Amino acid sequence: MKYINNIFTIENCRLDKVTKKFETPIFCYSKKKIEENINNFKNSFKAISPIICFSTKSNSNLELLKYIKKNGLGADVVSKGELMLALKAGISPKKIVFSGVGKTRSELIFAIDKKILLINCESKSEVLEIENIAKSKNKRVDIGIRLNPNTDAKTLKQISTGKKENKFGVNEKTFIEVSNHIKYSKHLNLKCLSVHIGSQILDHKPYKKMLNVLDKLIGKTSFSFEYIDLGGGMGIDYNKNNKKFDYKKYCQIIKKFLTKHKSKIIFEPGRSIIGDTAVLISRIIYIKENSKKDFIIIDAAMNDFMRPALYGAQHKIIPLVKKYKKTNKIYDFVGPICESTDKFLTTKKFQKLYEKEYVIICDVGAYGSSLSSNYNVRPKLAEILIKGSKINLIKKRQKLKDLI
Ligand code: LLP
Repeated sequence: MKYINNIFTIENCRLDKVTKKFETPIFCYSKKKIEENINNFKNSFKAISPIICFSTKSNSNLELLKYIKKNGLGADVVSKGELMLALKAGISPKKIVFSGVGKTRSELIFAIDKKILLINCESKSEVLEIENIAKSKNKRVDIGIRLNPNTDAKTLKQISTGKKENKFGVNEKTFIEVSNHIKYSKHLNLKCLSVHIGSQILDHKPYKKMLNVLDKLIGKTSFSFEYIDLGGGMGIDYNKNNKKFDYKKYCQIIKKFLTKHKSKIIFEPGRSIIGDTAVLISRIIYIKENSKKDFIIIDAAMNDFMRPALYGAQHKIIPLVKKYKKTNKIYDFVGPICESTDKFLTTKKFQKLYEKEYVIICDVGAYGSSLSSNYNVRPKLAEILIKGSKINLIKKRQKLKDLI
């Protein structure tokens, strides 16, 4: 993804071609970049040959899931809907793990009937519910227990999940109590210890701390776990300041851990696979001049892409065509929604902008379309996948008549 002759281009497709053919805003993915990310991820952990389950919450586009499956990945799901989608994409149930603090009885029954690899339980009550279902079906179900390791992931507080004040997983005491119960259960197999301490983590040290906690805990139980599910969370370089996650170090730490514990590692990456594979093209509707700054009112809004409004996340915005000189004006990129938080970014030294031109919001592949909503009765956006110079429509824009 780069400028060629001053026009932003994905693979061999100039994005001005997209705006001539499709309505904006629109999500555009690069097939090659997805493949590249999957290969990088696999290569980084080659030494430990993990099971890689793509976190479908980060992107739940069926066509992308099919492609991710084709590249050998399984799925991490958190609802019956995501599980159905993963199965529809052709992902083998034996490569699907199910997490989440509030799986309902009917969701659990569905997962048990589909014989998925693991249900990662997040409370004692959930374990007992699964045992009850398994008993009624006279089955034995493979489960994991998610530990809350009380480890600070050093990321945004809204996307931290591994501290004791977070709702996720169980503490050590409950973990030991529940695993002792399972030891004598005729209907449960405790196969996995799972963790996930948060998202957009750029430092490997929190993972090191987390593995130390696991090491100590395993020492206290008499279980040897067939699987250790380390979740996802590896961050990407949104700010383009080359602060990259050190996969090599993380792999070394895990390798060391595995010299003591003979388990198969599972990962549940989302953002690191899909985050930087897409952009959102948006058109400038109006420019409202103001004494201190100009409001650049674009056709994309917080309902289309929530991360800035929800977490204060900063996503780079760049012009689709570079053609004017930079200005000293302050630009506030905002959407049309009736909320002051419907704002993407404040920039200085942007090229001069004009109405009806296009800008690009970068790195929107993860938690972009999957987090979007119909707020203000706005239809969900179309999504396209670029391969070479070809453009494939992989999701149609919703129609207003579907909403009204
Ligand atoms: N596994 C579990 C159990 C998770 O809860 C998550 C993400 C993942 C895996 C994938 O994490 P990743 O590799 O993508 O960091 N909407 C927020 C992120 C929420 C993450 C929720 N859990 C954002 O836009 O930053």
